[in-house]
Order: sequence, then structure tokens, then C-alpha cells
Amino acid sequence: MRPLLCVIPLLASLATSVAGQPESIVGSPHDLSVGGPGPVRATFEDQVCIFCHTPHNASPIRPLWNRYLPVDNYRIYASRALDAEPGQPTGTSKMCLSCHDGTIALGVVFSRQTPIPMAGGVTVMPDGAANLGTDLSDDHPISFRFDSALSAQDEHLLDPALLPDELRLDANGELQCTTCHDAHDDSRGNFLAMHNFDSQLCNACHQISTTTIAEHESCNACHQPHTAPSGPYLLRGQNVVETCLACHDGGFHGAANIANDLGKPSIHETYSQVDPPDPQFMHTSCTSCHDPHSMHAGSAEPPLVHPNMGEIDGVNASGSPVTVASYEYEVCFKCHADQQATPPFIQRLAPANNTRQQFSPGAISYHPVEAPGRSSDVPSLRPGWTTSSLVQCSDCHGSNSGSAGGGSGPDGVHGSMFSPLLVARYETSDYTTESAGAYALCYQCHDRASILGDESFPGHDKHIRDERTPCSACHTGHGIASGQGSSTGNSHLINFDTAIVFPNGAGRLEFRDTGSRSGECFLSCHGENHDPASYPDD
Ligand code: HEC
Ligand code: HEC
Ligand code: HEC
Ligand code: HEC
Ligand code: HEC
Ligand code: HEC
Ligand code: HEC
Ligand code: HEC
Ligand code: HEC
Ligand code: HEC
Ligand code: HEC
Repeated sequence: MRPLLCVIPLLASLATSVAGQPESIVGSPHDLSVGGPGPVRATFEDQVCIFCHTPHNASPIRPLWNRYLPVDNYRIYASRALDAEPGQPTGTSKMCLSCHDGTIALGVVFSRQTPIPMAGGVTVMPDGAANLGTDLSDDHPISFRFDSALSAQDEHLLDPALLPDELRLDANGELQCTTCHDAHDDSRGNFLAMHNFDSQLCNACHQISTTTIAEHESCNACHQPHTAPSGPYLLRGQNVVETCLACHDGGFHGAANIANDLGKPSIHETYSQVDPPDPQFMHTSCTSCHDPHSMHAGSAEPPLVHPNMGEIDGVNASGSPVTVASYEYEVCFKCHADQQATPPFIQRLAPANNTRQQFSPGAISYHPVEAPGRSSDVPSLRPGWTTSSLVQCSDCHGSNSGSAGGGSGPDGVHGSMFSPLLVARYETSDYTTESAGAYALCYQCHDRASILGDESFPGHDKHIRDERTPCSACHTGHGIASGQGSSTGNSHLINFDTAIVFPNGAGRLEFRDTGSRSGECFLSCHGENHDPASYPDD
């Protein structure tokens, strides 16, 4: 009974004070008296406090509470990233919910035998933003202990000991509606306990944003604390993609149009569920490659991860998960290495589907993604490229209208006109007529005249132009993992496309490297039997 006794004089004194905080309730949306400003008000009741408090006949709940409390049948907030374990609402949150969940008539109070009649036939909270319903899974989590132990679990949470005075946890150290709101003070709008213009309310607890992209600085750009369409993570869209594309669809001034690339035939499909069940590698969303809170504009030399991907997680060259990727390929290895999110685009003699192994410095031959390549004899390289250069996945994969594809549209591995998500055209069907366009991807780095001039392989021109054999019949775009081929059979990125190249009459299908710019082939192709055919001599 002690707390009650303390409150009675307080209630009485504040009710009569002119400047006391509860006074500001008069004329606010919480003034449900006949003189109240909003559509929700009484027909003749002129007391303001009575809807929530009474000095008499109150329930045994602090502070002289005058309302029945709702029953515990709420759906509560949940997400896979949440460390807190909120249960059914407790404490002052239940007081708010006694009106805001829309289940209890607003005019029903302990101190009156019959409900206080409300204007316009209103009984419970009308539908609209103020009616949170009993589904709280789309509202900021409440009614859990916010203590140092919790903040220690998450580097992005501030220690509650540092909370500004305006934000109060309840006596049990629990975060409640009343941590962010003050039911008596609407001076900042929405009964907020402190302003949130610059996300200072959110940032008082979350130490999250390190972005320098101005339009991303407000939490509001992507989140809303109540009735969030996504549920988990409280996003403004139904899922991550919808949240980002609300601006990145060409309609928001200055925001790169990513929706345009996602309309192309070869794309990273975007996953519609916001908190996908494992295994995640089957589902891509913007946050598979971009950390939403730490993206920056800028640039990076290969193999470093681009700053606009932020502090995103990955899998490193030895196959171990890393919380912050240093290199771009580590982001791709999450799904395209041991997880093999996609089947091989081309069936090859040495089966190849693990990019981590294909690009390993221990691989038989490889494009230099993780480390400089094996060969010191690549005469076709165009100016700017040398045998010590590194290339990135996104030099070959990404938007055909971005800078890697020679265009001025946004960059990124989002979508392309050319499969499999290539920045430029790369024909892989047999009997393709050679042109600068047909193999534009390779010719970005390898000089067309050098290749067709037979500088390295004397059979290039004959095969590519005369026989109309695509590069991909002989070469893989990636590399050949050490366990999957042999050092003589798979040098120079040779790994035959088995839909085009077949075993010869003797049943042999093999390339043999016999030294610098020399080799021999045992195979059958375009009706020709090689048993073997050798170069440079034949
Ligand atoms: C719309 C509901 C509502 C109305 C109307 C309302 N209050 Fe409150 N009041 C609350 C809630 C909820 C609490 C407990 C939450 C808290 O401690 O912040 C509370 C707490 C209090 C307390 C205790 C404060 C404390 O720190 O323990 C006093 C005193 C008080 N109210 C006075 C008033 C007076 C006076 C009025 C009328 C001018 C009034 N209230 C109108 C909802 C309301
Ligand atoms: C007696 C019922 C009642 C209680 C209890 C109550 N509210 Fe309200 N609240 C209302 C009504 C009615 C509105 C106005 C709704 C409308 O106009 O659609 C409102 C409006 C609001 C708004 C929107 C204000 C604005 O500027 O539009 C917020 C925020 C809010 N309440 C928070 C709270 C919180 C937090 C608590 C608990 C501390 C609480 N309410 C307790 C009835 C209540
Ligand atoms: C973590 C802080 C936080 C908590 C906890 C919180 N709110 Fe809010 N609430 C806000 C903010 C911020 C806004 C203003 C939203 C805006 O500006 O769009 C808001 C707005 C509202 C509104 C106005 C309608 C709307 O959706 O904008 C109501 C009603 C409301 N809150 C009620 C509650 C109730 C009831 C609880 C407890 C069940 C609660 N809030 C818990 C931060 C919070
Ligand atoms: C008084 C402190 C406080 C304030 C203010 C606050 N939050 Fe929180 N928020 C928390 C805590 C604590 C958690 C639980 C974190 C956890 O357990 O991982 C949380 C959880 C969340 C989650 C769910 C995280 C998950 O892992 O599913 C989101 C999203 C969120 N807050 C966004 C916001 C936004 C946006 C604002 C500003 C409108 C805000 N918060 C204001 C303390 C706060
Ligand atoms: C550019 C959009 C964007 C902005 C701006 C943004 N967020 Fe997020 N946030 C997201 C997305 C998307 C997720 C879901 C992450 C995922 O898919 O894993 C998320 C997740 C979260 C989470 C839960 C996971 C975690 O990292 O703990 C919290 C908490 C959170 N955001 C709080 C905030 C706060 C606080 C702000 C403002 C300081 C903010 N966010 C600004 C997009 C954004
Ligand atoms: C409120 C609008 C808005 C939302 C929502 C939004 N963005 Fe942005 N974003 C912008 C604007 C404007 C820029 C700056 C111009 C630019 O570079 O596109 C930007 C910049 C970026 C950049 C940096 C581009 C560079 O300069 O290198 C990335 C990456 C990005 N956004 C990704 C996202 C992702 C991922 C999401 C969702 C989690 C998202 N954005 C949500 C408006 C938005
Ligand atoms: C979260 C998992 C994930 C990540 C991370 C990821 N991908 Fe993918 N990728 C997929 C899936 C799944 C597909 C199949 C298409 C789809 O459903 O999205 C795909 C498709 C592709 C394709 C087209 C394959 C085809 O046969 O059409 C390419 C190329 C590609 N990804 C390259 C990359 C690159 C480069 C990166 C790193 C920048 C990357 N991916 C990061 C999951 C991922
Ligand atoms: C972004 C630039 C770039 C693109 C695009 C590119 N390459 Fe390369 N390529 C290189 C570099 C750099 C080397 C040198 C690696 C080395 O020294 O081993 C190389 C080496 C090679 C080698 C020689 C490897 C060896 O071990 O002898 C072959 C074969 C090759 N590329 C084929 C292709 C084909 C086919 C394409 C088109 C699918 C292509 N390249 C696209 C940059 C590129
Ligand atoms: C030098 C250009 C080049 C680079 C660099 C490159 N790719 Fe590819 N990628 C290709 C080509 C060409 C294909 C078509 C299939 C083939 O050649 O066998 C392809 C196919 C793919 C596919 C389709 C599935 C498959 O294995 O056939 C995926 C997924 C893929 N690449 C992911 C990646 C990732 C992840 C990286 C970086 C770790 C990367 N690529 C680097 C050129 C490249
Ligand atoms: C498979 C990985 C991947 C996915 C999924 C992905 N991105 Fe990207 N994104 C990238 C890479 C890589 C870059 C380019 C980095 C660079 O500039 O080299 C990029 C760049 C961007 C840029 C900057 C473009 C520019 O040129 O200014 C924006 C904006 C962007 N992404 C938004 C998004 C949005 C929105 C989504 C979800 C619809 C998304 N991304 C999904 C990998 C991805
Ligand atoms: C019939 C099989 C075959 C076809 C088709 C083929 N190549 Fe080659 N390519 C080879 C062989 C064999 C070598 C190795 C020559 C040696 O021993 O040094 C080679 C070497 C290379 C090299 C490394 C040396 C250099 O010249 O810089 C590049 C780059 C190359 N090819 C690119 C291409 C491109 C681009 C295409 C398609 C336009 C293509 N090749 C089509 C068989 C082929």
C-alpha cells in the first residue's frame, strides 16, 4: 500500500497545478474529456485524468490506475538477431495497451458503474495508427530487461547506465512504452520522451549508424517503430528489398536506380521474406551484400571490398566465416563457394562449382581474383592490365549498363542483360560468328587483335573465326581447382565444355600442356578427330 499512499497527494497536487507536467495533457490527444481536441472524446465527461486515474476505487496498481488491464494474448516481437527475450507485456506497457490494443472500451473505468459515454459512438480505439492491435510483432520490442548484460551481447547497444535522463526504464529495469513515451507530455508530438528529429531517440540506445550517406542517416529512412510492414527488423517495406527500392527505383532524387537492373533477365533474385530461415545462401536480398548501417560512397582497389558494401560478413579464402569481409570475393564466397548456390553455367570436363577453390592461388590455373595469376606469358593483355594485376568478381559480373560494362548506370552485381550476370556480352553457344561484340567481356582485357593474331595459341583464329567455336568451348572464365584437374591438362584456363567437345575415336578427351606455347589435344569436335592435334607444329 505504500506506493499508493505516496501517489495520492502527488496526483492531487499535480491535478491542480498550472505548470505541472500532467497539465499538458489538457488539450492533447490524451485529453479524452468532452473538451478534448481529437475525434476520440467523451460526450459530456469533463474530467481529464479519470480515463486513466482515480483517487478512489482504483485497481491495486500504481499509479491509482482506473482501468482494467488487457489479457495476455499478444503476438510479441521476434527476429533471429534479437538477443532480448521479450515476453507478454508487463508494467506500464499494459496500461497503454488497455486503450491502444483496441480490445477494451475507452470509457470503461473502475470508478464508474457504467462506461463513460463517448462521442460519435466510439467504444474501443478506432482503427488507425493509434490502434496497435494485439499483434505487437511489428512494434518495437518492449517489456524485457535492458541491462548491461544485454548490451554486452551486442556491440551496437549502448549500456543502459548511459541512458539520458529523459529515457527511463521501469523499476525492474525493463524497457516499456513509457521509456520512449510520456503519456502526460505531448510537447514534442507523439508523447515522445525526447525528440527524434535526428534519430537522437534511437541513437540514445542503438549505436548503429556509421554511414556517411546523408539520406541513410535517419533511422526513419528504413525503419518505423510501430506497425512496420516487415514485422522483424521494423522496416518500412514488407522486406529489405522493398525498403531499399522505395528510393532506389528511380523515383527518389539522386538515388541510384537498382530496380532497373533487377528487371533484367539475369539477376540476383530478391528474396521476399525479411528474416529467412536457414540456409540463407539460397536467398539474396540487398543485405546479403550491403550492410545497411555502414555503407559509404567511395572506391576501393581490388581485391578490397567496396566501401558501399559496408561492414558486411563473408567467408574467407580458407573457407572460414568472417564478420567483416576485407575482400569483395569474401562476400561472394558466402554463397558461391562451398555452398554452391547456383549450378554450373556450363558442364565442363573438370567439374567446377566452388569459386573459392577455382580462384585459390593453389589452383591449376585461374583468373587472378585472390592472388596474381600463374602465367607470366599473357601477350593479349590490354594496356592497364599486367600479369601482376588482380581482377574482381565484379569486373566480370554485374550490371551491363554500369561502369564495368562501359555504361553510366549504377554499378553492382544486381542484374544484367547477359547471363550469367555478366557485365558484357559473352556468347557460349557453338557456331557463334566472331565479332567484337560476341566476346566483348574477354576483349575488355584481352586484345582482340592479339587473340585473333594467334600470338599465344596458333589455333585461335582458325577455331574462333573459321570454325566459329566460342572461347567457352576451351576456356573457363574462372579457374580449375587443384583437386579437380591436372597441371598439364588444365593450364591456361583450359577446361572443355562437354556439350561441344567430345572424346576422340580412341575414347580420349584431354588437353596436354607440353611447354611454353605448345600443347596437344585428344578430342573430337565439329566432326574433327584430334588424336592428337599439336601446336605450334600442326
Ligand atoms: C491516457 C492515460 C492517462 C491520463 C489521461 C493521465 N495519466 Fe497520469 N499516468 C498515466 C500512466 C500510464 C502512468 C504511469 C506511467 C509512468 O509512470 O510514466 C501515469 C502516472 C501518473 C502519475 C505518477 C507518476 C509517477 O512517476 O509515478 C501521476 C502523478 C499522474 N499520472 C497524474 C496524472 C494527472 C494529474 C492526470 C490528469 C491531469 C493524469 N495523470 C492523466 C496515464 C495517464
Ligand atoms: C484511456 C485510453 C488511453 C491510454 C491508457 C493511453 N492512451 Fe495513448 N491515446 C489514446 C487516444 C484516444 C489517442 C488518440 C487517438 C486518435 O486520435 O486516433 C491516443 C494517442 C496516443 C499517441 C499519438 C499522439 C499523437 O500525437 O497523435 C501516442 C504516441 C500515445 N497515445 C501513446 C500512449 C502511451 C505510450 C500510453 C501509455 C503510457 C498511452 N498512450 C495510454 C488513448 C489512450
Ligand atoms: C523504442 C521507442 C518506442 C517504444 C518502446 C514505443 N514507442 Fe510508440 N512511438 C515511438 C516513436 C519514435 C513514435 C513516432 C513515430 C513517427 O514519428 O513515425 C511512436 C509513435 C507511437 C504512436 C503514434 C502512432 C504511430 O504509429 O505513429 C502510438 C499510438 C504509440 N507510439 C504507442 C506506443 C505504445 C502503446 C507503446 C508500447 C506498447 C509504444 N508506443 C512503445 C517510439 C516508441
Ligand atoms: C531505450 C532504448 C531504446 C530506444 C530509445 C530504441 N531502442 Fe530499439 N531496441 C532497444 C533494445 C534494448 C533492443 C533489443 C536489442 C536486442 O536484444 O538485440 C531493441 C531492438 C530494436 C530492433 C529489433 C532488433 C532485432 O534484432 O530484431 C529494432 C529494429 C530497433 N530496436 C530499432 C529502433 C529504432 C528505429 C529506434 C528509434 C525509433 C529505437 N530502436 C529506439 C533499445 C532501444
Ligand atoms: C538504409 C536503410 C537503413 C537505415 C538508414 C537504418 N537501418 Fe537498421 N536495418 C536496416 C535493414 C535492411 C535491417 C535488416 C538487416 C538484415 O536484413 O539483416 C536493419 C536492421 C536493424 C536492426 C537489427 C539488426 C542489428 O543490426 O542489430 C536494428 C537494431 C536497427 N536496424 C536499428 C537501426 C537504427 C537505430 C538506425 C538509425 C541509427 C537504423 N537502423 C538505420 C536498414 C536500415
Ligand atoms: C530514403 C531513401 C533511401 C532509402 C530507403 C535507401 N537509400 Fe540508399 N541511397 C539513397 C540516396 C539518395 C543515396 C545517394 C546517391 C547514391 O549514391 O545513390 C543512396 C546511396 C546508397 C549507396 C551508396 C552508393 C554510392 O555512392 O556508392 C548504397 C550502396 C545504397 N544507397 C544502398 C541502399 C540499400 C541497400 C538500401 C536498403 C537497405 C537503401 N540504400 C535505402 C537513398 C535511399
Ligand atoms: C546470399 C547468397 C549470395 C551472395 C552473397 C551472392 N550470391 Fe550470387 N547468386 C546467389 C543465388 C541464390 C543465385 C541464383 C539466382 C537467384 O536465385 O538469385 C545467384 C546468382 C549469381 C550469378 C548468376 C548465375 C547464373 O547461373 O545465372 C552470378 C554470376 C553471381 N550470383 C555472382 C555473385 C557475385 C559476384 C557475388 C559477390 C559480389 C555474389 N554472387 C554474391 C546467391 C548469392
Ligand atoms: C577484367 C579483366 C579480364 C577479363 C574481363 C578477362 N580476363 Fe583473362 N586475364 C586477365 C588477366 C589480368 C590475366 C593474367 C593472369 C596471369 O598472369 O596468369 C588473364 C589471363 C587469362 C588467360 C591465361 C591464363 C593462363 O594461366 O595462362 C586466359 C586463357 C584468359 N585470361 C582468358 C579469358 C577469357 C576467355 C575471358 C573472357 C571470358 C577473359 N580472360 C576475361 C584479365 C581479364
Ligand atoms: C574474368 C571474368 C570472371 C571473373 C573475374 C569471375 N567470373 Fe564468374 N563467370 C565468368 C564466366 C565467363 C562465367 C560463365 C561460365 C563459364 O565460363 O564456365 C561465369 C560463371 C559464374 C557463375 C555461374 C555458375 C558457374 O559456376 O558457372 C557464378 C555463380 C559466378 N561466375 C560467380 C563468380 C564469383 C563469385 C566470382 C568471384 C569470386 C567470379 N564469378 C569471378 C567470368 C568471371
Ligand atoms: C550479390 C551482391 C549484391 C546484392 C544482392 C546487392 N548488391 Fe548493391 N552492389 C553490389 C556491389 C558489388 C556493388 C558495387 C560496388 C562497386 O561499385 O564496385 C553494389 C553497388 C550498389 C549501389 C551503388 C551503385 C552506384 O553505382 O552508385 C547501390 C545503390 C546498391 N548497390 C543498392 C543495392 C540494393 C538496393 C540492393 C537490393 C535490391 C542491392 N544493392 C543488392 C553487390 C550487391
Ligand atoms: C579451341 C580452343 C580455344 C578457343 C576456342 C579459344 N582459346 Fe584461348 N587458348 C587456347 C589454348 C590452347 C591456349 C594456350 C596457348 C599456350 O599454350 O600458351 C589459349 C590461350 C589463351 C590466352 C592466354 C595467352 C594470351 O594470348 O594472352 C588467352 C587470353 C585466351 N586464350 C583467350 C581466348 C579468348 C578470348 C577466346 C575467344 C575469343 C579464346 N581464347 C578461344 C585455346 C582456345
